[in-house]
Amino acid sequence: MSPENGHHLQSLVDTHGRKHDYLRISLTDRCNFRCTYCMPEEGVECKPKDEILTFEEIIRLVQIFASVGIAKVRLTGGEPTIRKGHEELIGQIAKIPGITSVHMTTNGSSLARMASRYVEAGLSGVNVSLDTLIAERFAKITRRDAMQAVLDGIEEALRVGLSTKVNVVVMPGENDDELESFVEFARHRPVQIRFIEFMPFLENGWANERVMTSADIRARLSEKYTLNPRKGQAESVATEFDIEGVQGSVGFVSSVSESFCGTCNRIRLTADGQFKTCLFLPPRSSLRDALRSGALEEEVISIIRADLATKWAAHPPMSKWRQLDTLSMVQIGG
Ligand code: 5AD
Ligand code: SF4
Repeated sequence: MSPENGHHLQSLVDTHGRKHDYLRISLTDRCNFRCTYCMPEEGVECKPKDEILTFEEIIRLVQIFASVGIAKVRLTGGEPTIRKGHEELIGQIAKIPGITSVHMTTNGSSLARMASRYVEAGLSGVNVSLDTLIAERFAKITRRDAMQAVLDGIEEALRVGLSTKVNVVVMPGENDDELESFVEFARHRPVQIRFIEFMPFLENGWANERVMTSADIRARLSEKYTLNPRKGQAESVATEFDIEGVQGSVGFVSSVSESFCGTCNRIRLTADGQFKTCLFLPPRSSLRDALRSGALEEEVISIIRADLATKWAAHPPMSKWRQLDTLSMVQIGG
């Protein structure tokens, strides 16, 4: 079925008038790290392999989503790079008509080895999680002694020309004394440092006192640096700033203190193929089951549209978040 065909041209607009052109796909619910803010030390229960979408199923679903206007894809996890052959999947997704960019969120543990292959495959950029530049802290936060590998990965990503962002979850008393260090990290590197507010998810030790708001981070940085708002960043959830004298930039992801629901353009697929209309709402239909029971493209699109029609105008207040979903971040995909 070609996208030129009939109603497929109609894009994914929800009942609140938001057009969705961005699909985030979790490739796996497993991870080789155990970040404290993401999951308990013993990890979380993982789905059996036969419940996880195959690459063929993922490609089929992206083709279907592309036919209704999805243009941008981000691969997440868990840790997407632990799926064997993910670099080939990147290549195949990047070639699907209508897909204009593929990005990936990774912990960076294998990036030094893989970055050049990603570029060849057509990956546009990576977001690398790195919450500290101090090795002992890194080992404490991620429960893995792997900071150097991640730093090497970032250098390699930059060297091969991947657009590179560094995700920093800021937690008072844990890494909030490193805000300046991260800006200095960006001084001579074209990276964007994205300071992220700690969000509550299942079993991740969240408490209000563990959140440092973007406003506070910005105020702290402004004592030392001149931050100038960046133009032309319509599709980013981060509020982005250039800093005088700094090659890179900074972004603030204020998921806790603000809501960016009004301009939300994103939908998600869990690793086992459940369709999520919002990070904070429980999954709707299993598109995997639809495919495995032989659903035609038309039928899958009907399911997607019906689910999207239930998307809320805005996510509920933070105090209710944790009652809404029974998934932790590693299972949802960041
Ligand atoms: N709050 C904020 N960000 C989180 N991430 C994971 N768990 C949380 C949380 N509780 C981020 C990580 C990673 C991305 C996948 O999601 O920084 O970069
Ligand atoms: Fe793994 Fe990312 Fe969760 Fe850390 S935040 S444990 S790297 S999935």
